[in-house]
Amino acid sequence: MTGEKKSEWNSNLTFILAMIGSAVGLGNIWRFPNVLYSNGGGSFMIPYIVSLFLLGISFVLVEYAVGYKFKTSLSKILYTVHNKLEPVAWFVLLIVFLITTYYVCVVGWDLIYVILSFTKAWGSNPDIFFSQSVLQSSDSINGIFTIVPAVLASVAAIWFASWMILRTNLNDGIGKVSKILLPLLCIIVVVIVAYSLTLPGAASGYTQIFSPDWSALANPNVWLAAFGQIVFSLSLGMAIALTYASYLPEGSKLVDNALIVAFSNSGFEVFNSIGIFSILGFMALTSGIPFNDLVTEGTGLAFVVFPQVFNIMGPAASVIGPLFFLCILFAGITSIMALLEGVCYSISEKFNFSRKKSATVVCIVGVVISSIFATGAGSMILGVFDAFLNNFALLFAVLLECIIFGWVYDFDELIATLNENSRITVGKTWKAVIKCILPICILGLWIQGIYSTLSTGDSISITIMAILTVVLIIVPFIFTKLPARNDDFYNKIQ
Ligand code: PHE
Repeated sequence: MTGEKKSEWNSNLTFILAMIGSAVGLGNIWRFPNVLYSNGGGSFMIPYIVSLFLLGISFVLVEYAVGYKFKTSLSKILYTVHNKLEPVAWFVLLIVFLITTYYVCVVGWDLIYVILSFTKAWGSNPDIFFSQSVLQSSDSINGIFTIVPAVLASVAAIWFASWMILRTNLNDGIGKVSKILLPLLCIIVVVIVAYSLTLPGAASGYTQIFSPDWSALANPNVWLAAFGQIVFSLSLGMAIALTYASYLPEGSKLVDNALIVAFSNSGFEVFNSIGIFSILGFMALTSGIPFNDLVTEGTGLAFVVFPQVFNIMGPAASVIGPLFFLCILFAGITSIMALLEGVCYSISEKFNFSRKKSATVVCIVGVVISSIFATGAGSMILGVFDAFLNNFALLFAVLLECIIFGWVYDFDELIATLNENSRITVGKTWKAVIKCILPICILGLWIQGIYSTLSTGDSISITIMAILTVVLIIVPFIFTKLPARNDDFYNKIQ
């Protein structure tokens, strides 16, 4: 990015808010409550907290230390660590970019629901409404030739908003948006949780998640689920923390910051799940539907179960409904800009693009790919992308990063960087976690991910996954081979 001043956060608070915004996303709102419920309820907090400290915070610290030390993009960092490692950076960034293309689409669906929620326009059968009227989904892959205009418009709107944020300088774009949206998000969640606790049946809901099932602790899958949630929720391995930390001024307290971000993110998801389960408790009591049938995650929870709840909630639903969908929208936008920032940064640095130019290129390519999800076959393809990229490709990327920073790079340098200004320091235990324990745990999750992805796949999904695999192998090499237009790119950082 020659010619442009290097970006730097204007305050530590801006950095912390942007980091929390990147972590708090759809995963916190609709993934965590279900993971908690299906893995032993209250007792799940033990593997969850262990994973948070031992693995989650440990890996965030690696990203912080690397970003802060090198103060540059992932592609240049990996090139500096070893000439041959540049393709790994583009591989990671491509996964992040592809995840964003469908994440934007889900946030786009949510935008439609923000509007619908004022009048409860989903009618008396939200299930059919979602699949037939909103998604217009067809069972066959031929649906890819039918565009769904409302979804396309909404996806384009989210890409446009992301472009507006990314093209603006760091503090006026990502910084300002985080400072506005995060406090709003917190207020909305407090209102929703406070209201949900007043509903009849609320206690029968939230006690379900907190009543412990101690036998679950003996099940290794519960531990993997806890670790998987931490990877997803803290957005590990997506070069987000690394990119944001590279914009920190000298003298920043890295370890302290990492702890604040991790605790806020987990605090948010635990607090939010009290609201979600109180509302489901109310639904179970009022409708007579067994609690088990209501507990679901993802789009089923947000776009089917919650509209059903708002239908029976009475007048309060016209306030709580829009607030609920706004909450997902805000959490989604702050995550999208974080996902894209690292991608844009690497492109800017290698090809000497201005911030505006890289944001424009990334967002145009993004909108084109996302339009695949705005077709009749969109939600089916989205499911395949999600299963493959999250369960399989991203975990592989985290594993590679662990090996590179733990084994190829001189790890003691990172220890020194972290301890420089922090009140809380790290040492040998951290080293052992990153070098050995974390890779083993990720390998466990990864094998489980391959198994579940392949065992549930039909021929169309396997074909889509094969295409994605080829793209993920070829494109990083093309990006590596393309000559840098910034002479400085091949000068290794000392
Ligand atoms: N951690 C965020 C979330 O929970 C962002 C994220 C996006 C994580 C996409 C993984 C994939 O939604």
